[in-house]
Amino acid sequence: MMPSMDMEKIVSLCKRRGFIYPGSEIYGGFANTYTFGPYGSELRKNIKDLWWKTFVQQRADVVGIDGGILLHPRAWEASGHVAGFNDAMVDCKQCKARHRADHLIEKALKIEAEGLTEADLTKLIEENKVKCPKCGVSNFTPARYFNLMFSTEISKTGDDSKVYLRPETAQAIFLEFKNVLDTTRVRVPFGIAQIGKAFRNEITPGNFIFRLIEFEQMEIEYFIRPATGSGQAEQWQQVFEDWLAQQHRWCELIGLKKEKVSEYEHPKEKLSHYSKRTVDIMYDFPFGRSELYGLAYRTDFDLSQHSEFSGKELAYRDPVTNEKFVPHVIEPTWGVDRSLLAVICDAYDEDEADGETRVVLRFVPAIAPIKVAVLPLMKKDGLPEMANTIFDQLKMKYRVEFDDGGSIGKRYRRQDEIGTPYCVTVDYESKDDSKVTVRERDSMKQERIEIKELEGWLSDHLSL
Ligand code: GAP
Repeated sequence: MMPSMDMEKIVSLCKRRGFIYPGSEIYGGFANTYTFGPYGSELRKNIKDLWWKTFVQQRADVVGIDGGILLHPRAWEASGHVAGFNDAMVDCKQCKARHRADHLIEKALKIEAEGLTEADLTKLIEENKVKCPKCGVSNFTPARYFNLMFSTEISKTGDDSKVYLRPETAQAIFLEFKNVLDTTRVRVPFGIAQIGKAFRNEITPGNFIFRLIEFEQMEIEYFIRPATGSGQAEQWQQVFEDWLAQQHRWCELIGLKKEKVSEYEHPKEKLSHYSKRTVDIMYDFPFGRSELYGLAYRTDFDLSQHSEFSGKELAYRDPVTNEKFVPHVIEPTWGVDRSLLAVICDAYDEDEADGETRVVLRFVPAIAPIKVAVLPLMKKDGLPEMANTIFDQLKMKYRVEFDDGGSIGKRYRRQDEIGTPYCVTVDYESKDDSKVTVRERDSMKQERIEIKELEGWLSDHLSL
């Protein structure tokens, strides 16, 4: 594993090379918010596009929706988020650091503290003189639970003006279950997928973009027949294992090293209120092994709750057997921002080129922000014009960058740092032999390719 100091190198590279900027920097910054810069937003888009292609476009049993960030407030009562999506916090009176009370206790006393009352948490911290991990002093405010959902108000009067920003994308899928059933040809088993922003008022955000208050999820609710009932009940265990395998395959697809990916099975007593089984896909980040993705068996909890709270029946009738049932759900979920952080950490490497340390991001081509850079060796003698013609041709197919600034070595280094798989250099010989030099990022090997064969060559090598 990389030493933890290397996280600083990653944060610095992300800023320096236009991947991730601290949010609202000209106003002095706004803690735990970020802007994805030109290369960061390309990388993000490539990850989301690849996910959609893999799990929606290439599957006959999954359809997509794009639901709202704001849902009817009753939806969050039905889902259990209003009553149960709470964390207890304490503030250190000495250094003002804010902590999750249960985490403090679990770390200091090695006992389970989840779900304890405010009074019990406060008592445990005081009696055991638990110290602040930041300043070492034991002097905290009493523990106080608060809801992790961001709330806002809509412009109407009355008690029901409070609305929530969604803390997960999943609920819009459950709300549209019947609409999707009624308007498409889906048959159980099938999935509804969604990519979108989610918001959580996290007490302890941090580790760069690992835990954010505004983030993005890619989720699938996969509806299956309950194991009870007649007919051929899909065994939820089998569907669960299949999705677990799909999530591992996805990790390979985005280039994560197999040895850095592992699983964490949630113990039964720590499962969320809606889950009968949860497995997290873990990744060895520079700051330690942490949750990357999740997979849960949500049973029929959500559909049943929404049915009860809305008064609308959310059931499925089998067109062959005429049997009616409330489907159960297997939910694989992926964080976009965590994917981004994992691929950047995984791709980061340093080696040597021309006697100097070279920083390189070894992205797989499918997600690399820029696929090809076109570089005229000199800014004169017709080379930029030739390079421009190649750029115009390639840009119709790939995200290509044209760069004519600085020495060729400097330009190669710049492209290495943003993870561009291939650089195409137009030099003086190109004018005579109609060939260009193609340089591969990882091996730094160079090859002369006929200009008329360049597109086909790149298509074979990028294999997108
Ligand atoms: N619908 C289920 C659900 O939301 P979760 O484990 O709370 O489950 C799913 O979140 C995924 O969303 C996580 O595995 C992670 O990738 C991402 N995620 C959750 N909270 C996050 C946060 N505060 N910042 C960034 N990503 C987050």
